[in-house]
Formats: sequence, structure tokens, C-alpha cells
Amino acid sequence: MELSGRTCMVGIFGDPVAHSLSPAMHNTAFRELNMDWCYAPFHVLPRYLEEAVRGVRALGLRGVNVTVPHKETIMPLLDVIDPEAVAIGAVNTIVNEGGVLAGHNTDAFGFVRSLEAKGILISGRRVHVLGAGGAARAVCHGLLGKGLSSMLIVNRTVDKADRLAAHLAVRYPGVDIRAASGTDLSTADIVVNTTSLGLHASDPFPLDPMDLRADLVVCDLVYRPGGTPLLRRADERGCHVIDGAGMLLWQGWQAFKLWTGLEPPVSAMTEALRQAGVQT
Ligand code: ATR
Repeated sequence: MELSGRTCMVGIFGDPVAHSLSPAMHNTAFRELNMDWCYAPFHVLPRYLEEAVRGVRALGLRGVNVTVPHKETIMPLLDVIDPEAVAIGAVNTIVNEGGVLAGHNTDAFGFVRSLEAKGILISGRRVHVLGAGGAARAVCHGLLGKGLSSMLIVNRTVDKADRLAAHLAVRYPGVDIRAASGTDLSTADIVVNTTSLGLHASDPFPLDPMDLRADLVVCDLVYRPGGTPLLRRADERGCHVIDGAGMLLWQGWQAFKLWTGLEPPVSAMTEALRQAGVQT
């Protein structure tokens, strides 16, 4: 990649950041469109976040993605925040408009689009969301914007699920939104694992795999090459399985659009992920 005096810079703030596939995905997209842009990884420790954010203005970066552990703590450091990101309580994309930093959340869109891209109908369906943390909040907001019939939020700490359900019920009064400490999949069409269970080989299943029916859509935000144990078991039982790769692609697709105003080259971005071993 040739940098010039006019190269427009974007990047990602995270800790850790070395594993991120976003640089490959975005730089491939810039090359595909012959753009003089560059996407760089920035390993930003929590204690330097404020300075790093000031650096976006000072260095004239066009924007950055924000990943773990900064998605929430970055919010008070920004100038404006998109209403959906406020509702979710997390920002994963910043756009620098002449020194004014605007926070967005493209994770909710990314998750929903990853389902739609696989032909999955969301409207009118019954969804169980496992987990009630940051990832769950983005997933719930994304799905509720698409006209669900019901949502059950299942969490080990049921208090947290209760609070999230109550928050969502105010915003989506037409949808039956409840919380529980366990899941009964007989009342679900789509189940989404947003917990970290599945990241490590020794983790227990986040649900009883005997309950998996062939007509269920099973999504797991945890991405592992070859699938998480949950997705592998769901696949064996004939379920429609969706992993986190599509969400990675589509959240980046929307961030690219926010920064450049251009139509992101989705096949080049997909190919960049494939070359990094991630099949969408
Ligand atoms: P993220 O931003 O990835 O959602 P988070 O906000 O820390 O991360 O949320 C992690 C979620 O995974 C929570 O719902 C957590 O459940 P608790 O609220 O009870 O902590 C869930 N989780 C993590 N480890 C778990 C485990 N071993 N068993 C069940 N749930 C787990």
C-alpha cells in the first residue's frame, strides 16, 4: 500500500487489537475502489483512551472503529452520539466531521444484516437472546427494530436480564419482551448466543443441546473457525446456523459507508475475510 500526503486515515482502537481482521477488510475495500485511504490498528490502553480520542481530532483521522474494552467508556469523550448508539449504550464507530466526533453503533445493523443476507426472516418471529451484556444489547436493539413478535432474554444473572427487558419494553411497547434465568426453546424460532460460552473448548453449552430442533435458527456471536460447539451441534441437528462472521462483515460495511459515503465493495471485503480464514 502506497501512502501519500493526501492519504485519508481511519483505524481501530482496542486492547487487544492485534487479532483484528478489520484492517485487512477495510484496506482491501480501499484498494478495490482505488481510494487513497488507509486503516490502521491502534493498541489503545484504557488509561490513554482520552488522549487517543483527542488524537483523532489532532491528527485529523476521518474516523475509527472502537472495540473491547472501550465501546462504553468512549461515549462521554465524544461530541455527539447517534440515538441508536445511545439506546444500545455502546459506540463502535466514530466519524470525525471537521473536529466534531460523532459516535455510532454499527453492531446492531451488522447482526441483523448478517441474518437477512442468509435469507432469514426476522419479522413476526420469536427470539431468545442468551446473555444480557453489551453484545446482547446491540443484538436486541437490532432485532426489535425489525418487528419481532416476542423476545426472551435469558441470563445467568437474571437481574441483568430483567433490567434489559424493562429498558427495551419502554422503547418497543408492542413486543412481548421478558426475562428468564433459563431457556425453553419450544417457544423460540431464533436463538442467539451473546454470552462468551463457546470461546474455550471446555465451556459448557449455553443451552441444552437436546432442545435443538431442525426448524430453529441458531446464531452464535462467538466466532471460532469451524464453529463453536453450539453451532456444530445445531448443524448436526439440522438447524439453520449463523456464526459471527457475517456480523463482522456487515458492521464494517456500515462503518465504511459512514466514513466514505460510498457503497462498500462487499465482495472484496468478503474475500479479504476469506483469505484471513473467515468464511461469511
Ligand atoms: P459482551 O460485551 O461480550 O456482551 P459482557 O457485557 O461482559 O460482554 O457480557 C457477557 C455476558 O455473558 C453476560 O450476559 C454474562 O452473564 P452474567 O451477566 O451472568 O455475568 C454471560 N456469561 C459470561 N460467562 C458466562 C458463563 N460462564 N455462564 C453463563 N453466562 C456467562
